[in-house]
Amino acid sequence: MCGIVGYRGREGAREILIDALRRLEYRGYDSAGIAIWNKGTVRLARRQGKVSDLAEAIEADGFDGPMGLAHTRWATHGVPSERNAHPHTAADITVVHNGIIENYLELKETLKGQGHTFTSDTDTEVIPHLIASLLSKAGSFEGAVRSALRMLKGSYAVGVIREGEDILIAAKKESPLLVGLGEDGEHIIASDAPAIINRTNRFIFLEDGDIAVIRKGDLKITNLDGDEVTREVRSVQWSGAMAEKGGYRHFMLKEIFEQPRAISDTLIGRIEEEEGEVFFEELDLPDIAKVRKIWMVACGTSYHACLIGKHIFEANLRIPVETDIASEFRYRDPILDRNDLVILVSQSGETADTIAAMKEVKKRGLHTLAICNVLGSTLSRECDGVIYTHAGPEIGVASTKAFTTQVSVFFMLMIYLGKRLNVLDSDDARRLIGELRKIPHKIQTILDASSSIEDTARENMHYRHFLYLGRGINFPTVLEGALKLKEISYIHAEAYAAGEMKHGPIALIDENMPIVFVSPRDQTYKKTCSNMEEVLARNGKVLLFTDDARHDMAKRIDALFVVPESIYELQPILSVVPLQLMAYHMANLLGTDVDQPRNLAKSVTVE
Ligand code: M6R
Repeated sequence: MCGIVGYRGREGAREILIDALRRLEYRGYDSAGIAIWNKGTVRLARRQGKVSDLAEAIEADGFDGPMGLAHTRWATHGVPSERNAHPHTAADITVVHNGIIENYLELKETLKGQGHTFTSDTDTEVIPHLIASLLSKAGSFEGAVRSALRMLKGSYAVGVIREGEDILIAAKKESPLLVGLGEDGEHIIASDAPAIINRTNRFIFLEDGDIAVIRKGDLKITNLDGDEVTREVRSVQWSGAMAEKGGYRHFMLKEIFEQPRAISDTLIGRIEEEEGEVFFEELDLPDIAKVRKIWMVACGTSYHACLIGKHIFEANLRIPVETDIASEFRYRDPILDRNDLVILVSQSGETADTIAAMKEVKKRGLHTLAICNVLGSTLSRECDGVIYTHAGPEIGVASTKAFTTQVSVFFMLMIYLGKRLNVLDSDDARRLIGELRKIPHKIQTILDASSSIEDTARENMHYRHFLYLGRGINFPTVLEGALKLKEISYIHAEAYAAGEMKHGPIALIDENMPIVFVSPRDQTYKKTCSNMEEVLARNGKVLLFTDDARHDMAKRIDALFVVPESIYELQPILSVVPLQLMAYHMANLLGTDVDQPRNLAKSVTVE
């Protein structure tokens, strides 16, 4: 979704803003723009296309100054085009915005009636017009911004500057925005920490209703009534280098290869194998003995992690778990009991649907627990408890290490709860922790032996449709494998529980339909072998991912990739890795934009 950055400091804003825009590219965008303020004059440039096009366009101009705003736009209202790109201006006001102004049509009509002329199709353009229209009544720039924000319905993170005034104003409601505190009194606003982590590691995460007023070397935060508020300064354990490609062709590939490290970081300090104990310092949970049902709610890949979490929890804790897609959960009036525990899972912690689900749950007085990767994100701040995944910044739009670390957290949480509910004893916990500890090394062996996956990708990349089949805990694994393939290669991939094949998808099978099977040696092994037989009988191609090098079907199928063995609950963490790699290689060979696939945004901050 849209990315915002703003700067007020000693150095020229131009290069800093363009660099931050490049770091925001991963969020997904179709156009970009920049506004530079110098001695009261504002100069603006906007381009449809890449940040590099914008950088090139302003290169010759040379205009620079100590303050500015910049933006990457992901179209919601109005097609991707230069005139719809941000910043938007009216009179001497310049605005960048992320979010959706729900009452923009109404405001636009009123403003038009007052003689304002609009030049874009966006909802955003009403904001500078509204501020400009309120200037004389409010008596100050800051007052006019405050009055305008009070009139907006919907969500916003905004940066606002004005010609002739050395002030940068930032405000947020339901869209993420932070203020970075740099050297020499410099202040940088941004949609997320990775955008500016190279300049500072000290952040203030703005809360809904906050208005940050930045003057040279000075920051004041107030609420919408103008009362000053104090916000904590926080640091993240991420470095600028972690948000770089580090020699890899794409962030996605880097992040796939980072998984052994990411999972080790997720486990570090939290497991004690000898004692059979799991620790979560930051955890705040209700009386577990009273919990009759657990909910796991999320979107996309994080939802797939929840589906695996359900298997892990139910198999060991024997507590019913209900999983739900956040955008469904929030509108279906779920039957919640006050003693239920609701776990919300999100890499970014900024996914609008997941946050809305969390708010719904909190409104009904239930306890909420976040599993989240981004420190200080809205979800992590607003849930009653949080477990961070410590995967490090995930920049590739296709989620990889976030998924395997989320599943690792579910597994640890299961042990933690199992001990407290007395359904697991120390021997059980020791055995389970021992298996978990082996996972990073096992993933490393998969990665070391992964060159054949590129060959499989090359042999199959010309097919336009794939079917992914798995059973039990590996049904979510194939859902995730198919999601990876479609989002980055634009190849149609559908995942089914293997047992469902004969209830419909079997009609699709012929020599043009590769079927990806995930079939480790678990209780459904023989059943999945029968499914493979049925595919082969119809000339379908079988690509098999298993932990069994002597798989019954090994000699009769088209491709075989063997992952190490593990226990049932942890097998998906291993099986998903070659699926991530196969999707990556197909997309890379097809020449798509792997890290920023078309139409997608890394963090979906609007509904
Ligand atoms: O940040 P979140 O985990 O809340 O994001 C949820 C989904 O938008 C995300 O997993 C999406 O499906 C990814 N592009 C999948 O690779």
